[in-house]
Amino acid sequence: MEAGTPISKKAPFIWHGGDYNPEQWSREVWQEDFRLMQKAGVTAVSLGIFSWVSLQPAEDRFTFEWLDEILDGLHDHGIRAILATPSAAQPAWMSQKYPQMLRSDERGVRNEHRGRVNYCPNSPEYRRFSGQMARMLAERYKGHPALILWHISNEYGGRCLCDTCAESFRQWLQQKYGTLDELNARWWTAFWSHTYTDWSQIMPPRAQGEIHTHGLNVDYFRFMTDSQLACYRNERDIIRSITPDIPITTNLMGAYKPLDYRKWAKEMDVIAWDCYPRPNQSPGEIAFMHDTHRGLKDGQPFLLMEQTPSSQNWQEINALKRPGVLRLWSYLAVAHGADSVLYFQWRRGRGGCEKLHGAVIEHSGSSDTRVFREVSQIGEELKQLGDAIIGTRLKSRVGILFDWDNWHAADDAIGPVWNKRYYETVCRHYLAFYRRNVPADVVFPDSDFSQYDVLVAPMMYMVKPGLAEKVEAFTAKGGTFVCTYFSGIVDETDLAFENGYPGPFSRVLGIHVEEIDALYEGQTNTIVMSDGSGSYSCRHLADLLHLESAEAIATYGSDFYQGMPALTRHAYGEGCAYYVASDPDDACLDRLYGDIMRSHGIAPVLEAPSGVEIAVRYQGDQAITFVLNHHSQPATVDLDGSDYHDLLTGQTVSGALSLDGYGVGILITH
Ligand code: GLA
Ligand code: ZN
Repeated sequence: MEAGTPISKKAPFIWHGGDYNPEQWSREVWQEDFRLMQKAGVTAVSLGIFSWVSLQPAEDRFTFEWLDEILDGLHDHGIRAILATPSAAQPAWMSQKYPQMLRSDERGVRNEHRGRVNYCPNSPEYRRFSGQMARMLAERYKGHPALILWHISNEYGGRCLCDTCAESFRQWLQQKYGTLDELNARWWTAFWSHTYTDWSQIMPPRAQGEIHTHGLNVDYFRFMTDSQLACYRNERDIIRSITPDIPITTNLMGAYKPLDYRKWAKEMDVIAWDCYPRPNQSPGEIAFMHDTHRGLKDGQPFLLMEQTPSSQNWQEINALKRPGVLRLWSYLAVAHGADSVLYFQWRRGRGGCEKLHGAVIEHSGSSDTRVFREVSQIGEELKQLGDAIIGTRLKSRVGILFDWDNWHAADDAIGPVWNKRYYETVCRHYLAFYRRNVPADVVFPDSDFSQYDVLVAPMMYMVKPGLAEKVEAFTAKGGTFVCTYFSGIVDETDLAFENGYPGPFSRVLGIHVEEIDALYEGQTNTIVMSDGSGSYSCRHLADLLHLESAEAIATYGSDFYQGMPALTRHAYGEGCAYYVASDPDDACLDRLYGDIMRSHGIAPVLEAPSGVEIAVRYQGDQAITFVLNHHSQPATVDLDGSDYHDLLTGQTVSGALSLDGYGVGILITH
């Protein structure tokens, strides 16, 4: 998608709305919904997500009439439709008649009909029925004027360990390895006499079965990603052949470990994701998730497909979003690249396990509520913003490397600590830039690094073929590469590198790691700067390393490895590479990245007090600057002398911008 292009030409504005489940309600309520949607400034709703039985009550009976009526009703009220295929939850009659379609649990035991996402992704019946429904929906609604986007299924996820999947896995492995000898070698199966002598001996990693072959575990994760992606592609290809001009997506789930979303992104026209922060998750951590989703398609704007307007219901404790926070977090998403503000859910159902989940319309049915008023304000503002923001891009000079295979492999490794904290660690490095209001992109091993000046690879335990060469080329051309402890240990099938750690990164880093110490909870060491400028605390893991051609810029302050390098720097070509040998405190990360940013002349566009975020989207060279006050108290940001126009208030701002608690400004220069 070209920069500046809307996701749908039929809806060139920031979409506002959410999940709508009319099949749970009567016709009278539909009319009330349309009225209230208009009142709240709703411009797009997702529908059909769990409507399978309402559309196909029996194998040979189809009932689309209600959906015809809803789509027409939406259109009459100027509301666009994000039309879902209902394949996330098959009808009970289908599970009953085709029980092989049901998913199996971790022990390979077939589930009964229940819940949702309870299908075997390798079931031929599931593929056939979901494909048939996708075809019928696309044929029926291909010309409907309200239709702007296809939403395939809902939140693909989990895994199936049934016999059908076991058989497909064996075929997948034969494709990948060719011979059993090759598989045995790559999985190191001579260990504990696990050598396979026939393909039929290979089983999924079931709870009561083989869970200690790491090569198998990481391959099963890859296989499950491919299996579920094949379900998506099955429906997508059918729909695309019928409506080639309507974009297609599915909703992703943030830091979701079971599926490699980078692979999914390549098959999706636009990224969409459901943002449900954990209790007490900070705005920076939420921003990191938005940036991860933006990175999935190399910077292309994404859709905020779901967020709760008030509270979730599936956490242990579900606090309300404080007044103003819904608006603030909606613009947080937009500031990081979202072209929509969508909620789960429009109206609370009266029954089912989500009846206490936040909704725009509560059980009272009233629009005289705090939440409705906040939603309506957002609707009003988005209308005013028009097409000013859609399609615009962020620009960053910093890339933070993230990899799903590595996440699985690192967590699966037994030792030196149970909890590797991979995701948390990547986020902590990201936050050092976020705190400075310096934008960072989340990138992946197959991303193009050439636009970056700084590339950070925390805990890259698994180094897949080609990555180290790309990093060397990046650094040689003048980039700064930062890598940390617990990197360069295994290859893509989890076999340890024979030339020692950090494996293929050794050359660019100019070091070799001899041992890894694990620190008990609460135990720390110190990182003492060699130039005498201070020392910092570190914890978790500590690499004991030797310099090859790198220099130590800090050393450990205590223990038997006191004096050994803790931070190293290596000039490489026109650039340089740093190694962070332990898990340092935030002050150390701020210091290290502060120095690195300075050396590249990277600075925020505006200086702001801590807790006030600045993020910029660009329309060509025109900056659209978001100022987000994450404090509940007012804050002021000094402007740089130019006159700005605040797109939200329509006012001119010069000198300084004052914001209320949780306030937002969206500034363009005059
Ligand atoms: C997910 C789903 C929705 C709903 C919400 C509740 O994101 O896609 O159907 O269950 O969670 O938070
Ligand atoms: Zn299965």
